[in-house]
Amino acid sequence: MRQTIRPSGSLSGVVALPGDKSISHRFAMIASLAEGTSKLLNYSTGADCHSTLKCVEDLGIEVSEEGTTVTIEGRGLSGWLKPDHALDAGNSGSTIRMLAGLLAGQPFDSEIFGDESLTKRPMGRVMIPLAQMGAAIEAREGKFPPLKIHGGVLRPIDYTLPVASAQVKTCVLFGGLFADGETIVREPMMSRDHTEIALREFGADIQVRQRVITMQGRPKLAGREMVVPADLSSAAFFLVAGLLVPGSHLVIQDVGLNPTRSALLDFLLSIGANIRVLKIESVNGEPIGDIEVRYAPVRGGVIEKDLTAALIDEIPVLAVLGAASEDGLVIRDAQELRIKETDRIATVADNFKRMGIEIEVTPDGMKIPGKQKFKAAEFDSFGDHRIAMAFAVAALRGDGESVVENAEAASVSFPEFWKILGSLAQS
Ligand code: S3P
Repeated sequence: MRQTIRPSGSLSGVVALPGDKSISHRFAMIASLAEGTSKLLNYSTGADCHSTLKCVEDLGIEVSEEGTTVTIEGRGLSGWLKPDHALDAGNSGSTIRMLAGLLAGQPFDSEIFGDESLTKRPMGRVMIPLAQMGAAIEAREGKFPPLKIHGGVLRPIDYTLPVASAQVKTCVLFGGLFADGETIVREPMMSRDHTEIALREFGADIQVRQRVITMQGRPKLAGREMVVPADLSSAAFFLVAGLLVPGSHLVIQDVGLNPTRSALLDFLLSIGANIRVLKIESVNGEPIGDIEVRYAPVRGGVIEKDLTAALIDEIPVLAVLGAASEDGLVIRDAQELRIKETDRIATVADNFKRMGIEIEVTPDGMKIPGKQKFKAAEFDSFGDHRIAMAFAVAALRGDGESVVENAEAASVSFPEFWKILGSLAQS
């Protein structure tokens, strides 16, 4: 699909976004292992979270959907059935890496594969700890999907994550659900903690002290109702749009503001953004609030170390903001960007060239001078949802009509993106 975007006058409106992708995956997987019915409200409408639902169904669990409410009939920790075909994770790294931990603890063998992009993403990071737990997993060339998982008895481990990855942390904790005794995960940097919160809400015994997570195996998880907050990573596109287009004023409703994700707001505030959190409440252990953004020129700055890890999904759209900022933006320690749905350093740089924006690519990041002019261009998403949306936002500031090729990629996390963007733009 080719999406045309005209430069916009000020953006204004109240925005309701789909449910958080990270949280939706976790709720669905945990609910499928809980005893009894779970109702997940405001479940993500994205394709990735539907890949997770399909996998759960293929494992013999009853799943039904009505609007954005997903009902899952869990049958307890040993309720999954051997699937009669390979599981399809689609484009979703979270689905394959997190499910790998759960599949490793089953009394049956299974296979899980994904699309062309997922087939190139590294799985060694989950295979190594799962092997230490006693799992036998085969992968293409020893590290890429598809994964053949020989399920069996797992033992608990004490594992120090070599990379700050919430997917890997989750995979180990999920394996630990099936191991007798205490599984310990130690994090070099704090990564998103939705798994810890969700497991606790469903009844697991899990403690967190200074980046050390300790969980007792074989918990009794109970089905329940859970509300998914709106996705802060999707909100990021509108926050940046509001900061790029003079005169804009947007309110984004009921957004997840978990402190392991909200570094985005702190960073934007630190560079001069006009952002306010209007109300904040705790829902199922996750803070939720409305965010108001008004146009303001921003200074730019440096994203490095822990901040890079905390902002990793938002870097493509922050790079766009960086090019318009006063002082430009330097991004370091972002090697992980090279192994996302695309090599996001390369795909950002490619699209920047198309719009005449100067960028210096470094092995672990990029340097983007500020105060640059945005030319209208033909962008390509390269099949990556966050690249499609980041350059749609860039196009709002273009000097003419732009196009995003392969725009349908946005549906991976945010199918309503184009419609909502269109409804906010005043011409
Ligand atoms: C996610 C963790 C991050 C993030 C991804 C979702 C999660 O990946 O980039 O979009 O839900 O745990 P890593 O765990 O690879 O850092």
